Amino acid sequence: MTNVLILGANGGIARVAIDLFLKETDDQLTLYLRNSSRLGNLDLNRVTVIEGDVLDKEKLKNAMIGHDVVYANLAGGLEQMAKTVVETMNETNIKRLIWISSMGIYDEVPGQKYSTILDPYRKSAEIIEASDLDYTILRPGWFTNKDEIEYETTQKGEPFKGHEISRQSVADLVVKLATSPGLEVRKSLGVSKPE
Ligand SMILES: NC(=O)c1ccc[n+]([C@@H]2O[C@H](COP(=O)([O-])OP(=O)(O)OC[C@H]3O[C@@H](n4cnc5c(N)ncnc54)[C@H](OP(=O)(O)O)[C@@H]3O)[C@@H](O)[C@H]2O)c1
Repeated sequence: MTNVLILGANGGIARVAIDLFLKETDDQLTLYLRNSSRLGNLDLNRVTVIEGDVLDKEKLKNAMIGHDVVYANLAGGLEQMAKTVVETMNETNIKRLIWISSMGIYDEVPGQKYSTILDPYRKSAEIIEASDLDYTILRPGWFTNKDEIEYETTQKGEPFKGHEISRQSVADLVVKLATSPGLEVRKSLGVSKPE
């Protein structure tokens, strides 16, 4: 059984991943989010809810203690969030981080040049890659709500394949990474539906 802390637990991918964790694993989940009233009914034997901002370091530190894996599903000021998460993981001696980013941060998508809009994604990935953490950064393509789990991955340095990916597929990969120690550690993976 793994103790997983989910940051940004009301996010689109996180909500799908939480359902999968509860269905397919016996993991204990801590859901960390800014407004808990938006969560529906959850199995409170398996789930702890903490209301907080990721940039609130003291609260984040208290929430992190005792977890095996941190899964960050965040958007917005990602650079500062990455700094705070890395520092707090170091202080609490937690090594394993799964971080949702985006395709395009290394200009790895053939024929596409993503502009400054991806800068927070680029900078947060740099911070994580410079850390000593056992991170896996996921760089998904455009999300779809298709009812399918079908994906392939590419490593950093390889061209991104495809364009889209179902939310369920990203969530499936998150659950696999969280429950398989050593899988794709210190890797940054493009994630997309095979075309
Ligand atoms: N849409 C696409 O096709 C696509 C493709 C590739 C990558 N991505 C990126 O993948 C990531 C995950 O996607 P998603 O759809 O699951 O994201 P999402 O639904 O936008 O969720 C992001 C979550 O981050 C939380 N958050 C933001 N700032 C926070 C803070 N300071 N403290 C605590 N929580 C905070 C938000 O909380 P609140 O609910 O409180 O606002 C929100 O629930 C995003 O960065 C997204 O941009 C998207």
